[in-house]
Amino acid sequence: MHKTVLDILNMKKEKKKISVITSYDYTLASLCDKSGIDVLLVGDSAGMVMLGYENTIPVTMDQMCMFTEAVSRARENSLLVSDLPFMSYQASIEDAINNSGRLIKAGADAVKLEGGSIMAETISAIVDVGIPVMGHIGLQPQTTILSQGYKVQGKTKDTAMRLIEDAKELEEAGVFSITLEMVSHEVAEIISETVSVPTIGIGSGVNCDGQVLVVQDLLGMYDKIKPKFAKRYMNLSEDIVKSLENYKKDVESGVFPSEKNWFSMDDKELKKLRDQIGS
Ligand code: KIV
Repeated sequence: MHKTVLDILNMKKEKKKISVITSYDYTLASLCDKSGIDVLLVGDSAGMVMLGYENTIPVTMDQMCMFTEAVSRARENSLLVSDLPFMSYQASIEDAINNSGRLIKAGADAVKLEGGSIMAETISAIVDVGIPVMGHIGLQPQTTILSQGYKVQGKTKDTAMRLIEDAKELEEAGVFSITLEMVSHEVAEIISETVSVPTIGIGSGVNCDGQVLVVQDLLGMYDKIKPKFAKRYMNLSEDIVKSLENYKKDVESGVFPSEKNWFSMDDKELKKLRDQIGS
């Protein structure tokens, strides 16, 4: 049985840190799940790292459902949370509920959406139909980037107060956890002490209840943006390019494929064939 929202809520009570990693495809999701990471997040960052968009704005519900289905086929142990993409929940509560339902039918256990108090009513409505919601405040890539670019949030007293209020309102609206993206670590700590639901930080310091990273950043596979907050555990892109260069050389020199990699006919059948075609 895979982890549930209740397990994640209990981890905060038991003071156990929560690990979250993004996943978008079957192969990598299988490895993430096998590693024992608590939550697989099908983030709309898929738009950038899987589809090559400049940002997350163009991501569609159909794309998020496809990524969610692939990850759900791989997942055995972790909780699976999927992002509602830009404009799939902002225009109306009806959109928000219908699109959350689509992600659940695609295999997600919960959905994540960006926004503070302005999203409280929408979150309550989704939670009321039985779909668990993860909130997301601080840097909100679907909207903040358009007006401010990638900027740390909560660096002044007033912006910090706004974030703390947002977190409280999300908790009241019924979220089971809150992502804090690029929030100054002092404010992230205050929010984590203030709300009873787990906070999941990305670029928000060590005192959040859990951490999330984009899997391509962790594995060193995405070189277009290298955020300060992302820790690279390996440089997979270098290894991949080296391996591909070696493959190309082997193809060109005839070293690949070798006998180990091909299939043979029965000798007698080959002789009969040669006799028939006269070679
Ligand atoms: O889309 C995403 O990957 C996210 C995480 C970075 C939190 O929202």
